[in-house]
Amino acid sequence: MASPDDMKRKAAEGALAFVKPGMVLGLGTGSTARHFLDGVARLVQEGMDLKGVPTSFATAEVAKELGIPLTSLEERTRPDLCVDGADEVDPKLDLIKGLGGALFREKIVAAASKKFIVIVDESKLVPRLGSKSPVPVEVHPFGWRVAADALQALGATVDLRRKDGEIFRTDNGNHIVDARFRPLTTPAKMAAQIMGIPGVVGHGLFLQMADAVLVGTEKGIRTLRAARKPTRKS
Ligand code: A5P
Repeated sequence: MASPDDMKRKAAEGALAFVKPGMVLGLGTGSTARHFLDGVARLVQEGMDLKGVPTSFATAEVAKELGIPLTSLEERTRPDLCVDGADEVDPKLDLIKGLGGALFREKIVAAASKKFIVIVDESKLVPRLGSKSPVPVEVHPFGWRVAADALQALGATVDLRRKDGEIFRTDNGNHIVDARFRPLTTPAKMAAQIMGIPGVVGHGLFLQMADAVLVGTEKGIRTLRAARKPTRKS
């Protein structure tokens, strides 16, 4: 029986088929994206000309260790392809991301990229966003409790994220409030309401952003394609 990690690896290997010589790649964050980094490193070792735009300090570190040349959005504002994991995927290919804490940069890189491919194991497929995962909300430390109260007023149960007993800090120096809602019936409305809260820097609802989702399953890879062209604005 394939483990979740085997399925993540399968999905990541599948995404390598979209990588072409000369591309600038948005490099995601998390355990599934890590498998993709391994594959990109192999292609680089074999001589393929590739550069990556990392979505987190952690990914930048790993990419450097693996010998993947890096660039930035200042130098290349439109990466050719972004490949990243997700915490939940609904039937419209809308996503929750950010359990790894990199949602802010992940969204910027995915939105800037010409193509955004998501790689997951099958446990990430849900009928509605919020079925399993909270919505991670990045908030500025100043007055974060006020933002958390506003999220509660929207119906969420909230938790300030901690790591090793300390308040978690994102790469941008902010906090994350994990907002657990009932499964969302109108994610776009919720996304707009969350973004309207003063102090909110970003949130993990990635709506109409993915071009395709590669799902690693027991039997192989399932490819889900967006029914309409993503706007990549959420
Ligand atoms: C990182 O901030 C996240 O958005 C990850 O992409 C997401 O949490 C998926 O992580 P795994 O691939 O580790 O499940």
